[in-house]
Order: sequence, then C-alpha cells, then structure tokens
Amino acid sequence: MRQDNDMRALGRLCGALVLSSGALLTQCGPAETAPPGTSAPALRLPADVARVMGDNCTSCHASTPRFGAPMALVTYADTQRAAVTQPTQRVWQLLGSRTHDARRPMPPSGLLDAPSLGVLDAWVAAGAPPCSGTNCEGPPITPDPGPVLRPLPCQATNRFVAHGTAAGSEFHVPTNAGNLNKCFAFRSPFTRPTQATAFGPVIDDARVLHHLILFSTDTPQRDGEVFDCDGRLPRDARFVTGWAPGGQGSVLPPDVGMEMPATDGWFILQIHYWNIAGIADADDASGIQLCATEELRPHAAAISTLGSLDIDIPPRSTDHAVTGRCTPTAREPIHILGSGPHMHRLGTSLRTEVLRGGDAARMDMLVNVDSFSFDSQTSYPSELVVMPGDVLRTTCRYRNTTTSRVFFGERTEDEMCFNFVLAWPAGALSNAAGASGRRCIDRSQ
Ligand code: HEC
Repeated sequence: MRQDNDMRALGRLCGALVLSSGALLTQCGPAETAPPGTSAPALRLPADVARVMGDNCTSCHASTPRFGAPMALVTYADTQRAAVTQPTQRVWQLLGSRTHDARRPMPPSGLLDAPSLGVLDAWVAAGAPPCSGTNCEGPPITPDPGPVLRPLPCQATNRFVAHGTAAGSEFHVPTNAGNLNKCFAFRSPFTRPTQATAFGPVIDDARVLHHLILFSTDTPQRDGEVFDCDGRLPRDARFVTGWAPGGQGSVLPPDVGMEMPATDGWFILQIHYWNIAGIADADDASGIQLCATEELRPHAAAISTLGSLDIDIPPRSTDHAVTGRCTPTAREPIHILGSGPHMHRLGTSLRTEVLRGGDAARMDMLVNVDSFSFDSQTSYPSELVVMPGDVLRTTCRYRNTTTSRVFFGERTEDEMCFNFVLAWPAGALSNAAGASGRRCIDRSQ
C-alpha cells in the first residue's frame, strides 16, 4: 500500500479509492504522467476511445481487473500490451473481433451501440494510435469504484457462500482457470415453513468471480460438498436467484414470499470463476445472502419449470427449434415475478410467449433472450399475469456444430430447454403431467 506522501506526489489527475478489502487503489486515468526519473510523457488514449472504454469496459477491465476480465483497459499502455489469451497479439488487436461477436460480445451485456462501435473500429483500423492534437483534450477515464450494491432490506438471515456456511471458509480458485464452474451443496437450513423475501449477492474476490446462480433441488446431496458442476447438476435443479456483474439483488413485493425448501431439500450454489489472468492468491467466499421469514406473507411464490424435455438436435444443424407448451390447470390468475432461461452450450436463443386464450395472434412476451450465452445466464423480472385459458409457449433454438445428435440430459454435451419461472400462487403454474415436480411441460419424464 502506498504512503500518504507518495499519494500527494501523484498529483491532481490521480484518483484513489479504498476497496472493500481495505486495499488502496490508485489510478491516473489516460493522462499518464512519465514514470519517475524519465522525462518523456507517456502516450495517451484518444479522448473518444477513452470515453467509450470508460463508459462500457472499465467496470470490469479496471486497473485491477474485476469479474474475470484478464486485463485492464484504462491507459494507452494497457491497449498495447500482449493479449493474455493470444500473446502474439496486442490487446487492441482483439478489440474488433470481440466487440462485434454477438455470441461472445464485449461488453457481455450485448453489443455496443453503433456510434461507440464506430469509434473503436476506426481507432483499430488506424492501428490504435495514441491521441494527437485536439483528441487529447478529453477527461481521463475516471476510476470505476466497482459495483455499488443496494443493501438488503433486512439483516441477512442466511448466507450460502463458497465454500460452506462457516465463517472464514474459502474456495481456492486455481491459477489459469478459465471457465471453472464450481458447485457447493448445502442442506436447507429451514426447519419450519419459511419464505425468502429478498436476495443479494455476496461479492468476495471480485477479481475472479464471473457470475453465480443459486439452485434448489430435491435430489439428495452431500452437505458441504464441492464439485465440478458441469454434468453434475441434478435434472430437477431449479434456478432460485442469480447474480452477474451489473446486477443487483432482488426484492419481492411486500405481500409475496418465495417458498423455501424444508430440511429434506437442498441448495446448490453454482459459481462460475474465471482466472485466466493467472492470479495466484484467489481465495473466494462469494455467494448469495437472503432475507428469510417464518411470518409467512399472504402470497406464496414458487419456481416452476417451463420448456421441453423433448430434445433431439440433428448433427450440424444451424437453427434447430424446440418448443414446449404449458397450459396451466389453475383456475385463478397467476402472477409472474421473473424468469431464468437455461440451456447448455449449443443454445442460441430462448423465448417464452404468453398466448392469450391460446391464440398466437394475441401474444405477450414473457422473456426473449435472442443472443443466449451459457456463460452469462441471468434472470429477468416480469409483471405479467397469466389468466385461465392462456398458453405459455417456450421456444429454444440451437446451433449444433457437432457431428452427433444431441438429446436432453444434464451432461454438458447434452442439452436443456428450461425457463425457471417464479410465480404465485405457488404451484399454480403447472399442468397435470408436471404438477408434482412444479413443471409445466408437454411430456413428463
Ligand atoms: C461485465 C464485465 C466486462 C465488461 C463490462 C467488459 N468485459 Fe471484456 N472481458 C470480461 C471477461 C470476464 C473476459 C474474459 C472472458 C472472455 O474472454 O469472455 C473479457 C475478455 C475480453 C477480451 C479478450 C481478452 C483476451 O486476452 O482474450 C477483450 C478483447 C475484451 N474483453 C474487451 C472488452 C471491451 C473492449 C469492453 C468494453 C467495450 C469490455 N471488454 C467490457 C469482462 C468484461
């Protein structure tokens, strides 16, 4: 950590902030001053490029990169270094392909708007020069302080964090781990009927935490077990809540509580880590915290699974669609609070439409993820009300680049087509075939 007098010497262009870990981070923006003992001023980013990166990239590609981003994108020098994944290329040479890649966009939330893409494209096409003349006259990239999370509206009553519920236990994230999906199993701690009323993330080692999902399942697990999720997530696992960078927790409406499993139920916390930058001391205790109450609220909500188990994707098919229809048997309005689409790696898009009275001409969209990314799954809020007679149609689309037929299953090389929908009254969103498992799908398996 820097001493105070060093801090003052950094001059007025530098920002300093204290991270939650207590570490002091200093950042001088693109007005890079010369290192001590040298006289030539360092090169700076053009102002328009600095603005696009400051607005869209530095929440992750900060001076100390966050959420698995392997490098900083703050200074001109950052853009000229060798890329982490392709050391023969400079960082700026990767910008063009990643910002245009709709399947793996940067930023991960979706493609940049056209003017911002234009700024980066023109700069890359020109060979990524430093600023000159008037385009040096912009504000520096201001340090991004990291996510500002809304506090939970309660003293968190339960925490499910990697690894274990015990204070001080952490999961060591191996160096050079890209795409590491770890699962942590917990027996449900709830001995009496309990509802959750709010969820929030616990962000511990932000450098390597990519995103996380809390599932519930009735399939017995071993309490405290840590395992590789790929292929081992039970097929009845239901998405309870999730977090990805940029997201906040969720708070249920004041009269609604989400049913929590009793002690014969289980939670599985799935954390997606990304440590291609090779950080050696990544020990993480991130996870989910929630507000739970035994004073049950009038409306009990639960998660129902929509979609289809009827998956058979031909080899080398570029756009294969699977559709599952749900006609709830309930005779009352069903209030939807949110949905969490889930497919595996061949999935390209997922949508659930509500066909009013079963009529495709009278359709309301519940959720439409038209550029699905297995690596950035999240949940989407909703306020739709499903009326008796409505049909929910879920369509999953796949691109099968393999030479094999791909079927439903929990292994990574199998596929899924699920939308986990949180709705009240609990259990209303199910059909005759799937009532016991809170499923509303064509075929029960
Ligand atoms: C929400 C966090 C986040 C934001 C915002 C973000 N990135 Fe990334 N970036 C990542 C992560 C995580 C990786 C590593 C995983 C991957 O390659 O997808 C990455 C990787 C990259 C890579 C590949 C580096 C390599 O060595 O392979 C490039 C290039 C990149 N980002 C550019 C950008 C640009 C340009 C922006 C802004 C327009 C941006 N990113 C915004 C998280 C982010």
